Amino acid sequence: MARILITSAIPYINGIKHLGNLVGSQLPADLYARYMRARGHEVMFICATDEHGTPAELAAAKAGQPVADYCAAMWQVQSDLAKGFRLSFDHFGRSSSQRNHRLTQHFAGKLAENGLIEEVSEKQVFSVADNRFLPDRYIEGTCPNCGYDRARGDQCENCTKQLDPTDLINPRSAISGSTDLEIRETKHLYLKQRSLRGKIEAWIDSKTDWPILTTSIAKKWLNDGDGLQDRGITRDLHWGVPVKKGDQPWPGMEGKVFYVWFDAPIEYIAATAEWADAHGKDDAAWQRWWRTDKGAEDVRYVQFMGKDNVPFHTLSFPATIMGSGEPWKLVDYIKSFNYLNYDGGQFSTSQGRGVFMDQALSLLPADYWRWWLLSHAPESSDSEFTWENFQVSVNKDLADVLGNFVSRITKFCRAKFGEVVPEGGAPDDQARALITDLENRTRAYEGFMEAMEIRKAATELRGIWAAGNEYLQSAAPWTVHKTDPEAAAAITRLSLNLIRFYAVLSEPFIPDAAANMLAGMNTTDQKWPGDVAEALTALPPGHAFTVPEVLFAKISDDDRDDWASRFSGIRT
Ligand code: 2FM
Ligand code: ZN
Repeated sequence: MARILITSAIPYINGIKHLGNLVGSQLPADLYARYMRARGHEVMFICATDEHGTPAELAAAKAGQPVADYCAAMWQVQSDLAKGFRLSFDHFGRSSSQRNHRLTQHFAGKLAENGLIEEVSEKQVFSVADNRFLPDRYIEGTCPNCGYDRARGDQCENCTKQLDPTDLINPRSAISGSTDLEIRETKHLYLKQRSLRGKIEAWIDSKTDWPILTTSIAKKWLNDGDGLQDRGITRDLHWGVPVKKGDQPWPGMEGKVFYVWFDAPIEYIAATAEWADAHGKDDAAWQRWWRTDKGAEDVRYVQFMGKDNVPFHTLSFPATIMGSGEPWKLVDYIKSFNYLNYDGGQFSTSQGRGVFMDQALSLLPADYWRWWLLSHAPESSDSEFTWENFQVSVNKDLADVLGNFVSRITKFCRAKFGEVVPEGGAPDDQARALITDLENRTRAYEGFMEAMEIRKAATELRGIWAAGNEYLQSAAPWTVHKTDPEAAAAITRLSLNLIRFYAVLSEPFIPDAAANMLAGMNTTDQKWPGDVAEALTALPPGHAFTVPEVLFAKISDDDRDDWASRFSGIRT
């Protein structure tokens, strides 16, 4: 049994996430966590809300609420939606927690002790109309790299380039729109990332098994020198982690806070400590996941994130960890994603374009979305959500193949043998061929799940469902029963066992349907199939079951058209 630490990029607190956000980190992380638990490993699956910085302040101001109240309310909303999508976090933390305040200040203190912090007096954009400095997202303008005209002061969402507010062309205040901007002096702390370049480069070079998307982005920023400029880690904001050196004041930095991207990844660690606190456990309980001097040396740590987050996780956060000089766990594998587009354009939070998590759940249960999103995960390239494609996948894969299989065989059995697994003889040639096929497919499925090849895993799982469906179609127990009830009983027994087998294999993708299938089969046996032939005898003759409710309803053309037009505009 291995120990696996899994983190999903922590979503910004500013509003409900769209399906593109979901499939770019939290959902695939959940798939992996569920799979690894099913395989008997010890898993710690962590997520949280990213509550600091300008996104939070701007959203709270728009909502007319104090920022702390806004964050508390939105945490609850996001937490409830995560439950709605069955995201199986061991803990869903908050980056505004006291644990994160203390750890962030601790890291800054260590970096300072190690000579890696520089105090810099610098020129920053000050808005006369707003009477304040305009860090990060408080300022918008044209990207000097790609020309996108809504680039933010911290990063261009179009080309992913990390920016400084002073880089923007034609800058304007995101609060008032004012262009009456001045450059004024202010003092900030810089993390001297450049002096860690060699170490970080060697570390990235050692990760030969990482996905190309991850390493290509990391190397791009490393080699451009861009990602490893010394980086400002403080801001002139009110909301955030107050700048301190460990638990001591930091002279000259009063009233300032750490930059959101400095404290956000530290929250992965802090949220694990929050988990321990919430369960009445001691520090050793979370440190065994994070401190290589306290048991974490044999932990495998996997992160999930969208491609725009890769520079921060391959360069900035490792710089914090390495620079601390303390034995904190570094990530072992980074699974990153391209973007999911929406019907010919981009999903966009700022423009309210696409389908958001709350809206999705108001239309259909979580499993429908989970299946479509995961089976179309934007792994090797961007992918696109269209209502037609969603309808086809749901109706074919879920309703026609899996749902139909379950309903057909349970109803047939009830009619001919009653609601118990019938006796029947040994598997015939056709049944044996199916078992061999499923044996091969199951091993292939495991390989893809281990490797986090999500689309391939989904394709294999679909193939596993289809193989059973085709077997049932061709073995045709309803015809055989007329002349050979004994043979029909054997086919039925095998097929009923397939339902349990499918439930176990499918649980990481569609947990609710899997639970319904197990409940229908009147079993709690979720043992992962080692030997497929053996797994298909788990429900013995005489075992009682009930015909489950319809697992998946089809999406009608009317619903599809209705939803497509309802979600064609912009959410206000
Ligand atoms: O892109 C985002 O949604 C960020 N809030 C992700 C932060 S991940 C981490 F570093 F905590
Ligand atoms: Zn750009």
